[in-house]
Amino acid sequence: MKKSVLCLFGGKSTEYKVSLMSVCSVLPALDTDKYDIHTVGITSDGKWYSYTGSLDAIRDDTWHEKTDCLRRAMLSPSFGDGNLYVEGETKNSFIPVHIDVIVPIVHGAYCEDGTLQGLLSMTGIPYVGPHCAASAVAMDKMFTKLILNNYDIPQAKSAFFTRAEIETAPDEVLTRAEAVDSYPLFVKPANAGSSIGVSKASDRAELLAAMRLAASFDTKVIVEECIVGREVECAVLGNEDAHPSIPGEINPGSDFYDYDTKYITDTSADFIPARISENALEQVRTYAKKIYTVLGCRGLSRVDFFVTKEERIVFNEINTLPGFTQISMYPKLWNYMGKTTAELLDTLIEYAETE
Ligand SMILES: Nc1ncnc2c1ncn2[C@@H]1O[C@H](COP(=O)(O)OP(=O)(O)O)[C@@H](O)[C@H]1O
Ligand SMILES: [Mg+2]
Repeated sequence: MKKSVLCLFGGKSTEYKVSLMSVCSVLPALDTDKYDIHTVGITSDGKWYSYTGSLDAIRDDTWHEKTDCLRRAMLSPSFGDGNLYVEGETKNSFIPVHIDVIVPIVHGAYCEDGTLQGLLSMTGIPYVGPHCAASAVAMDKMFTKLILNNYDIPQAKSAFFTRAEIETAPDEVLTRAEAVDSYPLFVKPANAGSSIGVSKASDRAELLAAMRLAASFDTKVIVEECIVGREVECAVLGNEDAHPSIPGEINPGSDFYDYDTKYITDTSADFIPARISENALEQVRTYAKKIYTVLGCRGLSRVDFFVTKEERIVFNEINTLPGFTQISMYPKLWNYMGKTTAELLDTLIEYAETE
């Protein structure tokens, strides 16, 4: 019998559009001989709709205007209920659709930060990716750093600031931020993604502007030492048996790997394997597996590092629901390891259903 799979896309997050690109790669790759696929789109203001329209309308972000293809939809938090409820012909009458497994193709706030995962765990329906606590910790770069500091994971020097202190005591804040390292310094919101709100500051004026910008995306801001090196990413797959891929490398071809470089311009290039020594590749894999395990991830995550010219390896961040677009490293790394994207999705679904 076919498995009933619910794919979620969109989401009330700054990475809403990235999710649209991801789901356009995932939906065609899911094997329709094995799966009955149901799709729920979450609008950028957080409304859930069962969606039966075309991929093109997802791609150009008009799916939410296709009223013929939209029905209100919801999950029940009643444990073990196992259904998606889709509004029928009569307003407020909902028809149950049995779901075996949920594949969240969403990123960022409300989606990848434990919020959605709490709801999905409540339903009792298995779902792809880390559960609530691991997602919440991995989304928050400050919490991630603080935990990994206890496990000998090399990280950039950093300091943390609150939005309130940036507003009320900028001089004190700047003095403490400048104590992290000499310029340039990297500034980022603790909770964001896709480089949104991330800047490189070369002097005090830029630093304050960068901190204010980061604070407009989150209540916590991180100032970091700038690491000059290659950006190396490792895809991890599995539950307690975490399997790290061969690491890949992104060369942004711009000052740093910002949003435009990621999704709009075409300057970035990638290299699989990363152009580092065998020894450094192995070390990255070992760190990636350790970080994944320590944070309690399951299903998948992409663990990102910098590797300097001297082959100093520095952990940067972990993404628990990494991008799945045509150009995304996570599926590419598994393709390189010999798994098609369809096989990768089969494996992720199997892990979701395994304790
Ligand atoms: N400490 C740092 N040193 C050098 N470059 C950095 C540093 N932190 C971030 N960057 C650059 O900014 C990009 C985005 O930052 P990152 O921490 O990965 O946030 P996001 O979650 O938005 O991807 C990185 O891919 C890298 O190009
Ligand atoms: Mg990143």
